[in-house]
Amino acid sequence: MSARSTAAAAELVVDAVTVRFAGVTALDGVSFTVGTAAIHAVIGPNGAGKSTLFNVVSGAYRPASGSVRFRGADLTRLRPHRIAGLGVARTFQNIALLASESVEENLMIGRHRLTRTGFVAAALRTPPARREDRRHRVRAREIAGFLGLGGKLDIAAGELSYGDQKRVEIARALCVEPALLLLDEPAAGMNAHETAAMGRLIRDIRDDLQIPVLLVEHDMGLVMGIADRVTVLDFGRRLADGTPAEIQHDPAVQDAYLGTDDSDSPGEGS
Ligand SMILES: Nc1ncnc2c1ncn2[C@@H]1O[C@H](COP(=O)(O)OP(=O)(O)OP(=O)(O)O)[C@@H](O)[C@H]1O
Ligand SMILES: [Mg+2]
Repeated sequence: MSARSTAAAAELVVDAVTVRFAGVTALDGVSFTVGTAAIHAVIGPNGAGKSTLFNVVSGAYRPASGSVRFRGADLTRLRPHRIAGLGVARTFQNIALLASESVEENLMIGRHRLTRTGFVAAALRTPPARREDRRHRVRAREIAGFLGLGGKLDIAAGELSYGDQKRVEIARALCVEPALLLLDEPAAGMNAHETAAMGRLIRDIRDDLQIPVLLVEHDMGLVMGIADRVTVLDFGRRLADGTPAEIQHDPAVQDAYLGTDDSDSPGEGS
């Protein structure tokens, strides 16, 4: 865990990343930097390239050109499991939990990467394997407590409210002791009360755990309230990059959002 104790020094550099699918340029020379223990939001209308960007950072897509560097490593040369091994954790736009397993078992899946016990020793439940399992359970429960899930460890994930399921996903991502957390629309489908609670949680992840967060989110109230910096994408291009106040007053951003008539308009929330 020693490498992870330097998580606060982590920094992500996205440099001129281009991704093409047949006929579509999903990302077109996009660059930005995520600072130390910062919340960096990526916003933009539907199809702007936000999820594609996440898929490049987590290694699911390989860009046609450009690079993504994290603590000096070029992520675009690594396979997804190696990127996860560097401490880059993500949640998905759609919930991906084991619905019939308890919250605790879902979190233990997150601990798996940190487990040293071999498969055979674990299956035989040798004393060292049992000790290691106990240690991970203690930490998983601690993280559940941090997310306000302490009283729900034994409940099947599928029986929780939508907001709590989103929390379990974030808890599971935190269980890998990440050095960078990617959240894809954590407040999607939430009511105003749940969204406000999610905002406080993301802020706590930055302030208390010192983990930088790359956040894709449509809810402008949430983004402008918690982000340190915002990158705006439109048709795969970087339209603007700055503080929330700079972004809100940027004429190009206002044009792009006023030009689309979905619910993504800055300031409107969704
Ligand atoms: N695997 C793929 N194959 C082909 N085209 C894709 C693929 N993934 C994304 N695209 C296209 O790339 C563009 C960007 O999509 P992306 O999903 O990154 O947008 P987004 O900003 O996440 O949108 P949303 O807000 O709807 O989630 C879109 O035109 C999309 O159709
Ligand atoms: Mg998306």
